[in-house]
Amino acid sequence: MVAAVRVHKTGGPEVLTYEDIEVPAPGPGQIKIKNHACGVNFIDTYFRMGMYPSPVGMPFVSGNEGAGEVIAVGPGVSDIKVGDRVGYTSALGAYAAERLLPADRAVKLPDRISYEQAAAMMLKGMTVQYLLRRTYKVQKGDNVLIHAAAGGVGLIACQWANHLGANVIGTVGSKEKADLAQANGCHHTILYSTENFVDRVKQITNGALCEVAYDGIGKTTFPATLDCIKPLGMFVSFGSASGPIEAFNINILQTKGSLFATRPTLNTYVAKREDLLKTANDLFDVVASGAVKIPVNQKYALKDAQKAHRDLEGRGTTGSTILLP
Ligand SMILES: NC(=O)c1ccc[n+]([C@@H]2O[C@H](COP(=O)([O-])OP(=O)(O)OC[C@H]3O[C@@H](n4cnc5c(N)ncnc54)[C@H](OP(=O)(O)O)[C@@H]3O)[C@@H](O)[C@H]2O)c1
Repeated sequence: MVAAVRVHKTGGPEVLTYEDIEVPAPGPGQIKIKNHACGVNFIDTYFRMGMYPSPVGMPFVSGNEGAGEVIAVGPGVSDIKVGDRVGYTSALGAYAAERLLPADRAVKLPDRISYEQAAAMMLKGMTVQYLLRRTYKVQKGDNVLIHAAAGGVGLIACQWANHLGANVIGTVGSKEKADLAQANGCHHTILYSTENFVDRVKQITNGALCEVAYDGIGKTTFPATLDCIKPLGMFVSFGSASGPIEAFNINILQTKGSLFATRPTLNTYVAKREDLLKTANDLFDVVASGAVKIPVNQKYALKDAQKAHRDLEGRGTTGSTILLP
């Protein structure tokens, strides 16, 4: 038996139950991992609440990101062996001391990437990779708006967009978060709780507006975010930290300047193994170069997963959060 955090019924942080579970031997195509660290992400709260249904039914082990050592391999697994250091994402079941994983979802970690770094970036960092390099390919000189710039995805996105030569504009919930975002490559910060972020974007860009807006907030920043985007620009709605965006009339994209809008998810972008490896390697390279650092600003014991979720949803965290089994 090993320690894990399971959800038996959907609800608030209190439904995260710390208990022992049995992890069987790996089946065909699977590996067994001894987790050294597990990442905490907003998506974990969507599964916990039931906004995203569990693909494995109930109860389920929470968590979608982690890193550890391979301790067993199932029949048919040839490219991963016992002792390999691996990271993974987009596979429910991370909040546990040990877990099974389809071998084709594991990425071998370079020696220079620690388990804690990997657990803090496999989901968030690969998300930033596809958002900035594929969904909209950020170019030198672009004005880029990043909401929740001091968050887990946000701090990585600010550094990477800055590294690509963009003019980075970030919204944040407090002065302390503004300072942190600026220390991580954000050129201009906007306190969206007290400032009108559309007016500030207009002012910062001298009326030119942004080529792209990355919005993981959802309900409370829509539709105002559309007014921050220049004609033919791209609205990237990639999350719902404040709740989902209500159904809207698509004609609004015409009136705001023939905008493009997309609602992407990492799962689609790394569904093929070759894309998973390419995305991960691009992330590893940018981290190894020193251009992007992975701020692990909160560490909790696995048994304190409830507190980790309360802090994340209460806007009390910055950068990445990990759980230590
Ligand atoms: N589509 C994808 O592929 C993908 C992948 C990863 C993450 N995401 C999304 O990216 C977003 C960020 O994820 P994360 O894990 O890095 O979280 P995070 O940004 O570290 O935390 C969420 C932040 O959102 C801001 N926020 C604004 N209104 C909020 C509200 N009503 N309740 C809670 N927070 C609010 C807070 O920052 P301030 O206090 O500064 O406002 C908070 O710190 C989430 O929406 C997540 O679902 C999407």
